[in-house]
Amino acid sequence: MEKKNNRKNEHVSLAEHFYQDTHQTDFDHLRFVHHSLPETGTQKIDISTSFAGLSMNQPIYINAITGGSTWTKKVNEKLATVARETGMLMASGSLSAGLKDPSVADSFTIIRETNPTGLVLANLGGGQTLENAKKAIDLIQADGLQIHLNTPQEIVMPEGDRDFSTWMSELERIVNGVDVPVIVKEVGFGMSHETIQQLTSIGVKTIDVSGMGGTNFAQIENYRRKENKLDFLEGWGQSTAISLLEAQSFIHSSEILASGGIRTSMDIVKSLSLGARAVGVSGHFLHSVLKNGVEETIVEIEQLKEHIVAIMTLLGAETIAELQYADVIISGAVKDWCEARGID
Ligand code: FNR
Repeated sequence: MEKKNNRKNEHVSLAEHFYQDTHQTDFDHLRFVHHSLPETGTQKIDISTSFAGLSMNQPIYINAITGGSTWTKKVNEKLATVARETGMLMASGSLSAGLKDPSVADSFTIIRETNPTGLVLANLGGGQTLENAKKAIDLIQADGLQIHLNTPQEIVMPEGDRDFSTWMSELERIVNGVDVPVIVKEVGFGMSHETIQQLTSIGVKTIDVSGMGGTNFAQIENYRRKENKLDFLEGWGQSTAISLLEAQSFIHSSEILASGGIRTSMDIVKSLSLGARAVGVSGHFLHSVLKNGVEETIVEIEQLKEHIVAIMTLLGAETIAELQYADVIISGAVKDWCEARGID
């Protein structure tokens, strides 16, 4: 009998509990300039992209979510079905539970079983060893490895890590020691220019800034705490829009990915126009499969792709790379941040 208070189940149910149908994000402070003669047509738009040496025919992926229990196995099966039917890359949730307890390994291997030929990423936390990284990759025959950095979540989590002093050195060993591409990601707290600089200095080439605006792990972990809540951390971090602006000087030398609060085709195209190679979605796709089911989620994703083509047509951008030339006006708090940080 599965433990009622299983952490992985709680993360999924709390992410869904806090999901709001309408929400505002810093993407609202970004507006495209409309030009009346784009000189292209929808038939010319190519939305294919690549990162970490992996080619995909559209720029959306299912970012890390879950695994580690009977219920989350079912969730992973649904997500992997969506990934298979839409041709999307999918990342597993953190595999550390599967490495510690072989009885729940099937909640992760279901991803590969459901989607034998699709692109799948294994996921582990910062501070994990090279040995575990290799085991995680093997377990689901992953095409790449995501390592997540989640220090605010660890601090709020009663059972979380408190010492992050070896994270950089362990990460460097993993980057140099595994034979698949490594992607380093946040979990919804965003990244700074300085963080990206640190990551590139140890050889990380692909970085998912995963910013604030969607799933909020400070809020989720505070809810799980019985006492002494650290609610002052629930607004900690940088939004996805700000994180992408922080990443501006790296978009040509590194591969920058966007995630965190992404729901609409407009959020996706705005992220791509700020230099993201692709855009990851967790909370919203989780909500979709839980509330609407697999079939409706597939329909929604096919519509998202069509809508991306529509926006790119209006912007006169025939490829994802050309979106970087789109005219974007930045206002409000995002503009203030850029001024304070000297971002042009
Ligand atoms: C996550 N996320 C996550 N990330 C990670 O690297 N390893 C993990 O195990 C998990 N677990 C997890 C569980 C649940 C239920 C959710 C919703 C999310 C974080 C996720 O990949 C992403 O970085 C953030 O959720 C921000 O994106 P969204 O949710 O706002 O689209």
